[in-house]
Amino acid sequence: MKKTLIGLAALAAAWAVQAAETAAQPAPAAAAPTAMTPAQFDEAMGRLPKPDLAKGRDAHAKRMCGGCHGAEGLSSGNPAWPDIAGQPAAVTVKALLDYKEGRRKGAMPAQMMSGAAAPLTMEDISNLAAFYATLPGRNAKPYGSYKISSMPQLVKKGDPARLITPCAACHGVTARGNPNGEVPVLHGQQNQALAAALKDYRSGARSSDILGEMRVFAKPLTDKEIEELSGWYAEQPGREGRPAAKK
Ligand code: HEC
Ligand code: HEC
Repeated sequence: MKKTLIGLAALAAAWAVQAAETAAQPAPAAAAPTAMTPAQFDEAMGRLPKPDLAKGRDAHAKRMCGGCHGAEGLSSGNPAWPDIAGQPAAVTVKALLDYKEGRRKGAMPAQMMSGAAAPLTMEDISNLAAFYATLPGRNAKPYGSYKISSMPQLVKKGDPARLITPCAACHGVTARGNPNGEVPVLHGQQNQALAAALKDYRSGARSSDILGEMRVFAKPLTDKEIEELSGWYAEQPGREGRPAAKK
C-alpha cells in the first residue's frame, strides 16, 4: 500500500511536469491515438462473455496466432515477437482490444498485430485471453527461487530525480506480477519485445497506457538502461500457468 501511494505521488508529480512541457510546445503533426479511459476498460471487461478454454485453444490455432506466438504461447521464430503465455487475462483482453480498435500503434510490428486482431470477436478475445492465462511462461520455475538482490536499481528503487517509480511497484517482484492482474507480467518476456515496447513508449508511438504512466517513465530512459531492464526481465523465469478461474 505504501509503495502504491509513493507510486501515485511520483506519478502525479510527473504529470505536472509533463503538463507544463505540453503547454509550452506546439502540438505534434500526427497526434498519437488516445488510450482507453479507465471507464472504457471497466465497460469492456464488464461485457466480456464467459470464456471457454477449449475454444480459446481452437481460435489460437485457427487464427494462426501460433505462427508467430508459438503453439503454447511462447514465440519461437523471432525474438521480437512477444510471448503471450501466462499473461493475466485482463492484460491480453486490453492488448487485443487496443490493436483491434487502433489504440496500439507503435512501429510496424504493432500494425501487423492490428491486422491479426481486426477480425476477432469479443467471444474470441475472451476465450483466447483465458486460454493464454493458463499457459506457463518461458523457463517457468516454481515461485520463490528468484534472486531479488541482483535486480537493477530502476526495478527496485526507481529514480526519484527523474520521477521514475520502481518498475516492481506495479509489475511485481516475481513472475506472478501485480496481484491486481491488470499490469503486464514482464518476467521471462522476450528481450527484444520488451525493448521495443519501452522505445515505443519513450517516443510516444505507443500510447496505449491508460494513465500515460509508461510514457512518463520511459521518456528519460537511455538506450543502455532499456537494454539492462529488458535483459534482466528476459532472464527471469516466466509465469507459471495457472488453473482456469472458476466462474
Ligand atoms: C505475423 C506475426 C503475428 C501473428 C500472426 C500474431 N501476432 Fe500477436 N504479436 C506479434 C508482434 C510482433 C507483437 C508485438 C507488436 C507490438 O510491438 O505492439 C504481437 C503482440 C501481441 C500481443 C500483446 C503482447 C504484449 O506483451 O503486449 C497479444 C496479446 C497478441 N499479439 C496476440 C495475438 C493473437 C491472439 C493472434 C491471433 C489472432 C496474434 N497475436 C497473431 C506478432 C504476431
Ligand atoms: C505506475 C505503475 C507502473 C510502473 C511504475 C511501471 N509500469 Fe510498466 N506498465 C504499467 C502498465 C499499467 C502497463 C500497460 C500499459 C498499456 O496497456 O500500454 C505497463 C506496460 C509496460 C510494458 C509493456 C508490456 C507489454 O506486454 O506490452 C513494459 C515493457 C513496461 N511496462 C516496463 C516497465 C519498466 C521497465 C518500468 C520501470 C522503469 C515500468 N514499466 C514501470 C504500469 C507501470
